[in-house]
Amino acid sequence: MINETKKVPLHMSIIMDGNGRWANERGKERVYGHFEGVSSVRACVEAAVENGVRYLSLFAFSEENWNRPSDEVSTLMGLMVKAMADEMDSLDRNGVRFMVLGNRERLDPELNATIDACMARTSGNEVLTLIIFLSYSGKWDILQAAKRLALELAECPEKREDVSNLDADGFSRYLVTDGIPDPDLIVRTSGEYRLSNYLLWQGAYSEFYFTETLWPDFRKEEFAKAVESYAKRDRRYGKVK
Ligand code: IPE
Ligand code: IPE
Ligand code: MG
Repeated sequence: MINETKKVPLHMSIIMDGNGRWANERGKERVYGHFEGVSSVRACVEAAVENGVRYLSLFAFSEENWNRPSDEVSTLMGLMVKAMADEMDSLDRNGVRFMVLGNRERLDPELNATIDACMARTSGNEVLTLIIFLSYSGKWDILQAAKRLALELAECPEKREDVSNLDADGFSRYLVTDGIPDPDLIVRTSGEYRLSNYLLWQGAYSEFYFTETLWPDFRKEEFAKAVESYAKRDRRYGKVK
C-alpha cells in the first residue's frame, strides 16, 4: 500500500557494493556475489514499485571497474546480457521502462544489441523507470557533455550567444541523464562512505543513506528502511526554513 502522506523519493539511486566481500565471507569466488546480487536487483525493482518510487537507478559498473581482472569483467558483462534476457518479459509485463546509461562505446556489440532491444521494447512503459549505469562515471559524463557542447559551437559559431547564456539546467541537457530527474536519495551499501565518481553533477542536492548491509543481502526490508529514512529528511537547498 502506498501511503499518500509519506514523502517518497521520486528518484532513488543505489551504489550496489559489497558483492565480492559477500562471496569471500562464504569462501566463494567474487563472481558468486555478483550472481546473488541479481536477486537483490529483482527485489529492489519490486520494492520500488510497491513503495511508489518512480525512478530507480543502479550503479552496476563504473568506468574505473574496467581496471578489474579481465575474467571478472567478462563474467560481469556476460551476467548483464543474461539478466536482461531473463528479466525482460517480467519487467515489460510490469510496466517498467528499462534504460542503460554510460559510455556505451566501450561495451561489446552483443551487449549493446541486447540493451537496444530491451530499451526499444519497454520505451512506452510508465510504472517505473529502471536505469542501469554501466561503464559510467560522473567525470566522464560531465566531460562528454562539455565536449559535445564545444563541438556544437565549433560547427555552429552563431550559437555563441546561446552558449554564453547557458545555465545549469541548460548544461544538464547535455548529460546522459537528460530527461531524468536528479536523484532525491543515493544509497550505498557495504559500509563504504564515498561516491566513487558516481552522479557528481546530478547528486548535488541528493540525500544520502549508507548501510553496512552488503548488496546481495539488500532486499525489500532494507529498501524500505532507506525509504523510511528519506521520509524524515528536511531538504533546505541552501535556504532558511
Ligand atoms: C559491487 O561489488 C559490484 C561492482 C562494483 C561491479 P564489488 O565487486 O565492488 O564488491 P566488493 O566491494 O569488492 O566487496
Ligand atoms: C562502485 O563500487 C562502483 C559500483 C558499484 C558500480 P566499487 O567497489 O568499484 O568502488 P570503490 O573502488 O570501492 O570505490
Ligand atoms: Mg566494491
